[in-house]
Amino acid sequence: MSIIITLDGFSSCGKSTLARQLANELNYVFIDSGAMYRAITLYFLRQHIDWNKPEQVRQALTEISLEFAYNPQTGQSDMLLNDEDVEALIRDMLVSEHVSEVSAIKEVREFAVAQQQKMGEKKSIVMDGRDIGTTVFPHAELKIFVVADPAIRVERRFRELYAKNPAITLEEVRANLEMRDYIDSNREFSPLRKADDAIVLDNSNLTRDEQLSLALGWAKERME
Ligand code: DC
Repeated sequence: MSIIITLDGFSSCGKSTLARQLANELNYVFIDSGAMYRAITLYFLRQHIDWNKPEQVRQALTEISLEFAYNPQTGQSDMLLNDEDVEALIRDMLVSEHVSEVSAIKEVREFAVAQQQKMGEKKSIVMDGRDIGTTVFPHAELKIFVVADPAIRVERRFRELYAKNPAITLEEVRANLEMRDYIDSNREFSPLRKADDAIVLDNSNLTRDEQLSLALGWAKERME
């Protein structure tokens, strides 16, 4: 049986890594919902949209088309914003600094959630984010809530960003993660929270293979 698998949790808990591994193993589609909020944020920044003005937000959203496209060089899906590959740009610190604010806007959430739900119509999908098990797919067969020690999350994120930008400091990364955790879990619409029926996976002391084998076990149980 085809199922829907959701992974939610704070930033830099390793959700995307696990979601991607699971999708590979099961031959499922992997959707990084955070990439969609990041692409919308990039568009707003580029077009100087004042996101405190609902009319500007509504108009801007009508100009945005989001798609995922397979990149044969990396073997992963890239985010396309109006047909432009923005995969690298959306990981930039500038986007990270504003994405929590933009993704807290009601119109932005409705826009993204409607597209995410459409992607899940055929099931066989692994989607990671903040509200996937609670709002996007409340009836998903397997919901995982990923957690990790805050110090480990900062370290992981720092290593990832440092590779692209050696000027970045551990403090900057910590401040950004703390700010996003706060906004993501305290916003009015679809705040980050664990779905009642989600399984908690603490991967602080797990290797990638260990967490994959745990999650695969849960997935296979539900697929039978
Ligand atoms: O997973 P990420 O760090 O790339 O996500 C970027 C931001 O997008 C995150 O700070 C909160 C927001 N987000 C969200 O509000 N809902 C989702 N389903 C996914 C991400």
